[in-house]
Amino acid sequence: MEKTKKKENWGTQIGVILAVAGCAIGLGNFLRFPGQAALYGGGAFLIPYFFAFLILAIPLSWAEWSLGRYGGRHGFNSVPGIYRVAGKRRAWAYIGAMGVFVPLVISMYYVYIQAWCLAYALQYLTGILGSCGLQNLSLFGETSSGMHLGSSEAYAQFFASFVGMNEDAYIFKSGIFTPLLICVAGCFFLNYYLIYRGIAKGIEVFCKLAMPLLLICSVIILIRVVTLGNPTGIPGQSFLNGLAFMWNPSRPDATIGETLSNPEAWLAATSQIFFSVSLGFGLIVTYASYVRDKDDIALSSLTAVSGNEFCEVVLGGMMIIPPAVMFLGLSGLTPETLQSSFAMGFIALPNVFEQMPAGQIFGFLFFFLLFLAAVTSAISMSQPAVALLEEGLEFSRKQSVLLVAGICALGTFLVCYFSANATVLDTFDFWIGNMSLFVLSLCQTILIGWFWGEEKMMKELDRGSAIRVPRWIGWFLKYISTPYLILILILWCWYNMGSRVQMIYQNGIVLMAILFLLVGFSFFMLVTYLAEKRWIRAEKQYRRQIYTNRQGR
Ligand code: ALA
Repeated sequence: MEKTKKKENWGTQIGVILAVAGCAIGLGNFLRFPGQAALYGGGAFLIPYFFAFLILAIPLSWAEWSLGRYGGRHGFNSVPGIYRVAGKRRAWAYIGAMGVFVPLVISMYYVYIQAWCLAYALQYLTGILGSCGLQNLSLFGETSSGMHLGSSEAYAQFFASFVGMNEDAYIFKSGIFTPLLICVAGCFFLNYYLIYRGIAKGIEVFCKLAMPLLLICSVIILIRVVTLGNPTGIPGQSFLNGLAFMWNPSRPDATIGETLSNPEAWLAATSQIFFSVSLGFGLIVTYASYVRDKDDIALSSLTAVSGNEFCEVVLGGMMIIPPAVMFLGLSGLTPETLQSSFAMGFIALPNVFEQMPAGQIFGFLFFFLLFLAAVTSAISMSQPAVALLEEGLEFSRKQSVLLVAGICALGTFLVCYFSANATVLDTFDFWIGNMSLFVLSLCQTILIGWFWGEEKMMKELDRGSAIRVPRWIGWFLKYISTPYLILILILWCWYNMGSRVQMIYQNGIVLMAILFLLVGFSFFMLVTYLAEKRWIRAEKQYRRQIYTNRQGR
């Protein structure tokens, strides 16, 4: 179907690169990556990580950009519409519904974590968390038995209690004005306000402002870290030791072989690449659909992916891993202290800031940059759903944003309410933030390789491009990336599925979260069905129009 009306476009080429980089550069870069790298042996983890980057991230990102722009040129901005026009089969629209639902669910818990970052940044700014004892945290409703910070355990306890990991409904406990609740509401409002402003006026403008700011904060922290030397005076805890832990694949306590023969390290590395580059989210496809015909998507894709890697490995990794080694020592980086994606950022780092000269300022900068990174990612996550409602049901932007915000609020409420052990957050993250990314990416490579065709992908990449992507990339995507993805998915299920399925019937809250996901997905399938009907009608009308015009001639 060729539609004559194109709704929106990015303002500038640099704007789209910053927006896509912003959607990729997020908590995954600064929280998830350092934790995963430290957990799986530092430098040795980088081998499967860069392997996944080369085999999957670069070709899949090109694939998503070309698919998205192709859909956009044919008048579609929603993933179901784009899949349908590229796959030339109605079934693809329904598979595309996943590309709408997956990012929306991730945004439901992302906004909660975004609020933690904002709250921590505010705490550092107001001098509350810095080097004070927990008893001083009354500003945020915390009282304690006078326990002082200064150990990972104390920070872990503070974090758990602050975000309500110890009991359900914690953030609703003291009425509607608990600081974390205010931060959640503030973040939620900010995200949806920017989305409501639109692609160019909201998302692009914010990313153009936030990305340089984020870079400045990172560089300041990095300079501080590099100039710390050996702050504790303990042998083996210098900056160079931290650097060696991060970059040198062989260590005295573990050989490279041990990491490389551990399938879980490969799974973790691949999963990290997917989350970090935002592959299989439906986001790049949606954003690329707003790119102009003549813009260079091959270079934009490469720039955004490389920018993401720079922020992840050079900034995120070096800003966090060496200081953790310097202040806590290698013995402090145990699996227990790294058990969750948040441990490095919310537990290890505040401990480091407490011991660091002017740690309060650096603590503020760190959590503020996390907050910015979280906002630039979160605002991309609702856009696919908004685009589907706009073009599928012809809702106005205001109506679409309100409906999507309502659905997201419901999910965020569940995440915040069932905060004990982060049960709902963890369930959403496993089924959607991990598994669905592999599934959607796999569907996408099948769509491109076997239905749309790699020649069309290459042709789309060439359009307006200053670089010529090697011809074999299409073949590579089909015959190397796809089987590797299938292998990873099988291994992933093999290692995780048993215990996760068990949790569904053993834990009522997990069951409820899964039901919520099923109902939510059904809703977007229904919207896709209605959109599909409209598209079929519009196509018939279009064909009739052409027929009538021909007859009239
Ligand atoms: N790519 C985003 C992140 O890394 C989702 O957080």
